[in-house]
Amino acid sequence: MPLPTRKRHGYWDFGKTREPAIHRIHAYPAKFPAFLTEKAVKRARKAGVNVRTVADIFCGCGTTAFESRRLGLNFWGADINPIAVLIAKVKSNSYDVKRLKRLSEKIIDAYNGGTSSDITLEDLPDRLRYWYQDDDARDLKRLLQTIEAGVNHGKYRDFFLCAFSNILKAVSRWLTKSIKPQLDPSKKRISVLTAFEQQVKLMIRAVQEAPINDGTMRTIKEANILETKIPRSLADIVVTSPPYVTSYEYADLHQLSTLWLGYARDYRDLRKGTIGSVHHAEGEQPKCGLNRVGRRIVDELTKVGSSKAKASSRYFCDMSQIVLRCKSLLRPGGMVFFVIGDTAYKGVKVSNSTYLRTCLIEAGFVGIRMEKRKITGKILSPYRTEKGKFSSNPADKEVYAEEFVLTGRKPDHE
Ligand SMILES: C[S@@+](CC[C@H](N)C(=O)[O-])C[C@H]1O[C@@H](n2cnc3c(N)ncnc32)[C@H](O)[C@@H]1O
Repeated sequence: MPLPTRKRHGYWDFGKTREPAIHRIHAYPAKFPAFLTEKAVKRARKAGVNVRTVADIFCGCGTTAFESRRLGLNFWGADINPIAVLIAKVKSNSYDVKRLKRLSEKIIDAYNGGTSSDITLEDLPDRLRYWYQDDDARDLKRLLQTIEAGVNHGKYRDFFLCAFSNILKAVSRWLTKSIKPQLDPSKKRISVLTAFEQQVKLMIRAVQEAPINDGTMRTIKEANILETKIPRSLADIVVTSPPYVTSYEYADLHQLSTLWLGYARDYRDLRKGTIGSVHHAEGEQPKCGLNRVGRRIVDELTKVGSSKAKASSRYFCDMSQIVLRCKSLLRPGGMVFFVIGDTAYKGVKVSNSTYLRTCLIEAGFVGIRMEKRKITGKILSPYRTEKGKFSSNPADKEVYAEEFVLTGRKPDHE
């Protein structure tokens, strides 16, 4: 088998068209560009794969889910994060726009007809009280009650809960765009109602413009992909971007939505099982023999005394399982597309991409390719402090302005 190359390749760098607005209805960390799905489908078809069903095992906010539907393809996806699943479902549902407008008027009228002065905050988790001025917390609580009273269960309620979820940071004291939860003591306040009205308008416009191709089947599951039952030989291609080791703490970043929407009483419970989380690496480690590449990186991190050594070891273990799970999800002859980047701690390069490539080889994938792609719209400085701020200190975490698309094919016969 020829050695995989790391040559610069333009294929994955840019899309030809602007992303549909539906991809911007809710912020999500590490969302990947929508055009990657269509490019993967084209690449697979060129290689002779009859693509009818796409899977994304880390479906996040549903980029691949929506794009698959737009392309008239079936979709199977999962994510451990309930907020991700809520957004992904809303993005790929079809809605009657008139009904959305009617419901939105109903919610706003009901909200305007009431007052927040008699709303109590005693039952609100302390964590939420930390992030909000009391008046804003009262307004949010009343808005949530109004949505729940005005829209029955189902996809329409999900739509308005998704809108509610996306205003939670804007009306809080959370430092905007920070990748670590931190207070902004001088944040300009915006009213809950204004934020909600703007958000709903934006979402309705996005739904109106969304080029949906109906008649496709889709499943989006809230599940830990390491544990859930995987449908065998279901997908023709898997297009996914795994978490990186210790990159984002998704549970921490979504704590406002988690607590408001009642997904957990303590948002930290959702760290459990999240691949790449430092907390997921605490406690008992699974028995797993790391391959040569994983072992070397973990040894180097241990040598320089990096606190990330343990988390990296767990991460590599998890990713080798992920590759095997993708293989069983794929039909014979199907292809996997992993979008993944590298990082560095204390000068040690943590090459997630090289590790993953070795896992693909060991799992028996064939025709493995590793192509670079530019990450656009980044990077002022390659270093980040523990708090996620830009830094010029090479001792901090290093992020790169490029990542890789790793491709492999499940053999037709084994
Ligand atoms: C890089 S993001 C994927 C983003 C996605 N491509 C998008 O465009 O939104 C990685 C995702 O993996 C999810 N994740 C982490 N551990 C998981 C697990 N054990 N099972 C399922 N999903 C997991 C995270 O919640 C996160 O949404």
